[in-house]
Amino acid sequence: MPDVTLTTLQGLKQKGEKIAMLTCYDAIFAKTASEAGVEMLLIGDSLGMVLQGHDSTLPVTVTEMAYHTACVKRGNRGAMIVADLPFMANATTEQTLNNSAVLMQAGAHMIKLEGAAWLAESISLLAERGIPVCAHLGLTPQAVNLFGGYKVQGRQDAQAQKLLADAKALEQAGAAMLLLECVPSELAARITQAVAIPVIGIGAGSATDGQVLVLHDMLGLSLTGRSPKFVKNFMQEHGDVASAIAGYVKAVKAVEFPAAEHGFSA
Ligand code: KIV
Repeated sequence: MPDVTLTTLQGLKQKGEKIAMLTCYDAIFAKTASEAGVEMLLIGDSLGMVLQGHDSTLPVTVTEMAYHTACVKRGNRGAMIVADLPFMANATTEQTLNNSAVLMQAGAHMIKLEGAAWLAESISLLAERGIPVCAHLGLTPQAVNLFGGYKVQGRQDAQAQKLLADAKALEQAGAAMLLLECVPSELAARITQAVAIPVIGIGAGSATDGQVLVLHDMLGLSLTGRSPKFVKNFMQEHGDVASAIAGYVKAVKAVEFPAAEHGFSA
């Protein structure tokens, strides 16, 4: 069990203290980030774009996710480890259970699934079997082809109502945490108020219970040279990696990051 548990995260939400999460794919960054105070390390399938150089997350496999999860586990110093089920690894409930088992046995403490209310059955099955789940809503990059690009979600009223209903349904199904990506800040605030479980945001404003960024983005490392609006480069004001990560944690806790300029309006 990690030092940071679900109870820790629940306590932070209740106290109103923000949760700091970063993606992480290997042992040395796991050590650096967990020692710098990052509470949750996410082995995101973003590794397909960041480490492997693909133009989407779709090519990433469960075997690759398990390899990186095991690497992070070896370097981690007490953070909670969350691993993504990659594209189509949760197409059926049987696949969801089997693939989640692979990632938990590789070292994850929680599994993250992209989707919407249709995830409810899988989330219930996982929770019944002792696997905490984070449900990823809003811009779910595995559905980029359906969305027609990496676009802000929930701007129209009907879409916003659906996201709010999905969040409540997934909490009801047994989700331990929600992650909202690229949704208007005001909607993210409403969802965070409406559920009792911690809500982590990326491109979702400062009112969520915590923040996540892709590690390489916040270190200013990019294959394309472009950076999403919701990213802040912490290397610019902190000269080295450990200080940049510590600066991120401090800024999240102080609610200085994200600033208004990093969010989206409806
Ligand atoms: O894969 C990933 O890194 C993610 C984050 C962007 C939240 O899902």
